Amino acid sequence: MSMRSKFTYLHLTKNFSYFKKLGIKGPKPVIIFGNLLDLLFVSKPDLEVKRLKQFGTIYGIFEGNKPLIQVAEPELIKQILVTDFRLFNTKVRITNIGHPVIERMLVSVRGDAWRRTRTAVSPAFAIGRMRRQYAQIRHCVGAQLVNQLQTCANNCAPVDVKRMYGCFTLSAMTWCAFGARTDPYRDFGHPFVANAWPVFKLPLWKLLALQVLPRFVLRVLRLNSLFNEKCIANITQTILKIMRAKESAGDKSDDFINVVMNSKLGPNEELPDDNNPDDEENLVMRSKTDDNIGTKKSLTEEEIVAQGFIFFTAAFDQMANLLSFITYELALKPEAQDRLYEEIAAAVDADGEIGYNELSRLPYMDAVVNETLRLHAAPVKLRRTPGRDFPLGDTGIVVPRGQPLEIPIYAIHHSDKFYPNADQFIPDRFLPENRHNLKPYTFMPFSTGPRVCVGKPFALMEAKLALVHVLRRFRFAAHKDTKVPPIVKTHPMMKSLESLYISVEARD
Ligand code: HEM
Repeated sequence: MSMRSKFTYLHLTKNFSYFKKLGIKGPKPVIIFGNLLDLLFVSKPDLEVKRLKQFGTIYGIFEGNKPLIQVAEPELIKQILVTDFRLFNTKVRITNIGHPVIERMLVSVRGDAWRRTRTAVSPAFAIGRMRRQYAQIRHCVGAQLVNQLQTCANNCAPVDVKRMYGCFTLSAMTWCAFGARTDPYRDFGHPFVANAWPVFKLPLWKLLALQVLPRFVLRVLRLNSLFNEKCIANITQTILKIMRAKESAGDKSDDFINVVMNSKLGPNEELPDDNNPDDEENLVMRSKTDDNIGTKKSLTEEEIVAQGFIFFTAAFDQMANLLSFITYELALKPEAQDRLYEEIAAAVDADGEIGYNELSRLPYMDAVVNETLRLHAAPVKLRRTPGRDFPLGDTGIVVPRGQPLEIPIYAIHHSDKFYPNADQFIPDRFLPENRHNLKPYTFMPFSTGPRVCVGKPFALMEAKLALVHVLRRFRFAAHKDTKVPPIVKTHPMMKSLESLYISVEARD
């Protein structure tokens, strides 16, 4: 090896002794890619499960040459997400570069900017609004989803449930979030429909490039997001058009974007002086009482559009994943499907309807949804950065300030240490009489603490309402084309399906 290549090699691997110095175990990294190439052989969720088994509850991996500490100890998770939340309210990019829309979404912002954004977004999920959206979702289930399933049942054809539920969650989302009525089963030209599926296309080369190449190269290549950049632009332009039309019409309706628009800055108002995302000095969030900067209800137009984009992606794709995985588990476990059917049949009125309150009082439904979220939680990990040096309990390991760490929620959900027969679908673990067996901070499909998923009540309501009306009418079963286990897409943080074929038949 020449002196020059030896120097380059040493430069590119200089971080690789990082975990050794901290006394942390982990898989051996390779030059340039770190541990990223493992994704070529195993899906991200399976990889995380394997690593937790192999290295225990604290270990380290490399994304390129960037070290990431993994923490799967429930007590430490409580500290990170709840007790010392202010110290950790610092999200870190998953990629080496940021996209202006993605960086402004509630899920990405940090510190005082997060508090300002969360204050503006939370009222959109108030219970009164949720009750009104119940009727809209009920309409989408009846007019679209059930009709489409009936056609598939009549034709005796297996159904791609990911696509089928995707059309439903897209139409429910565009109505509830933007007041826009769409029919994704037919109206392929609507910009929300045309861009909904392609926005999630993430080729492996792009994923590796975003995590390995330096920022200036990514800028030249115009790569800046795990989402498809052109589709982000099309979706956000459509959101902006809707917002402007609402403004000029004086629209006071109740959809998510209208509520968030209530926080829009006036023409002469300025953005509060909260932290700059690149200000590495200010990693700890100020306390609520320090001043009122973080609590002002004021967002710019760009920030509001970004909240529209997170609603779009979460309420479309994550919801379609959840419904598809539930259907898959019930197709494989007919006795669980029958038991849930009996519960639903006993709860609906003579017209087959169920009220908002009654929907949340179905214990077996709740157990089935939770057990599916345990087995197939969409976000595989949470990523945080400590604003101060952070001792990892009594391990003697101190995570340096600014060093990103990750909570591998998916792997925790799959650990036999916390869930006996962890890879099996056993809804009974979540029944009220068994819940005392669950260890706190080992079930976090929606995260926990102040940054818990703001859309959780909406997500649960929509999923349960759809299931009541679908399972009341149809029975699902595995088909020869049903992949067991299902094939998931390549993504650094999410478990998501491309397609999933299942047989459907009408109950009568
Ligand atoms: C099955 C459905 C869903 C799951 C499993 C889920 C899960 C999560 C998780 C784990 C987080 C925390 C991420 C982190 O801290 O890194 C989160 C945050 C968030 N979710 Fe969801 N989510 C779902 C549906 C939704 C829906 C339907 C919406 C909106 C309509 C939504 C909006 C958000 C937002 C805005 C945040 C950021 C909260 C914050 O940082 O303050 N989610 N979600």
